[in-house]
Amino acid sequence: MTPTITKAVIPAAGLGTRFLPATKAMPKEMLPVVDKPAIQYVVEEAVHAGLHDVLMITGRNKAALENHFDRMYELESTLEAKGDSEKLAKVEYPTDLADVHYVRQGDPLGLGHAVLRAQMHVGDEPFAVLLGDDIIDPRDPLLERMIAVQGERDTTVVALLEVPPSQTHLYGIATVEQTDEDDVVRITGLVEKPPQGEAPSNLAIIGRYVLKPGIFSILERTEPGKGGEIQLTDALLEMANDPTAGGVHGVVFRGRRYDTGDRLDYIKAIVQLAVERDDLGPDLRPWLREFASSLD
Ligand code: G1P
Repeated sequence: MTPTITKAVIPAAGLGTRFLPATKAMPKEMLPVVDKPAIQYVVEEAVHAGLHDVLMITGRNKAALENHFDRMYELESTLEAKGDSEKLAKVEYPTDLADVHYVRQGDPLGLGHAVLRAQMHVGDEPFAVLLGDDIIDPRDPLLERMIAVQGERDTTVVALLEVPPSQTHLYGIATVEQTDEDDVVRITGLVEKPPQGEAPSNLAIIGRYVLKPGIFSILERTEPGKGGEIQLTDALLEMANDPTAGGVHGVVFRGRRYDTGDRLDYIKAIVQLAVERDDLGPDLRPWLREFASSLD
């Protein structure tokens, strides 16, 4: 019987240097996207896909993350005394969202190393990995589809997105073969952040994975790769080349995704998400049009 996936792993030990000085004393995962920290979108996505057990891989300077998913008694009782149930609900919601666990990475040796830190918690079952820099629009469910493909094919699954050739050097890039399903490909090759002009395709891994537990023993022996870091992409390539491991498949995502990984994309993500909100969109849209036309 195919095991049901219940666990999500969220690597959150990065230093967030692209956002300095904002991230000097605050984890980058806590940066607000409109009015919610980026990490909360990701935990919500995991929970919506049925993954209620969330393990965050953290590091130094990440206390705010733990506090965000914990109770905040003083604030809660103040809001309760005021009878402000709307704000109280916003404070309580992240606490009750999921069963959140934490383990520290200690040495920041790369994404592969971060995922390996989840071994004890995950055990011998497939699990999901969600990277915090990507926000997937809840109207375009991706993780659910990946979990279904994992179960049907007993394989390891990555999310792929077609990106312009000018961006392939920022991602793990896949070489693929079509399968009998329109949105599913079989991975035949993977390369981490190929130099510009040398990418074998324009299919980029975005930050969602559904991994079989066999990935751990591969990661244990994966040597540092690109940038001197232990790369998850390199371990996945080994898995893809081993038919007894069930191979690696990609789900090609054609929905809405917001990148919050660098400053420009972060600003775009906030604007895109805010214009669609009922409470902000009606005022923001006409202002944006006027502002945009004033730029010329
Ligand atoms: C990581 C992975 C890369 C993947 C990317 C998706 O890179 O190593 O293969 O394409 O996430 O966001 P990072 O962006 O953490 O450098």
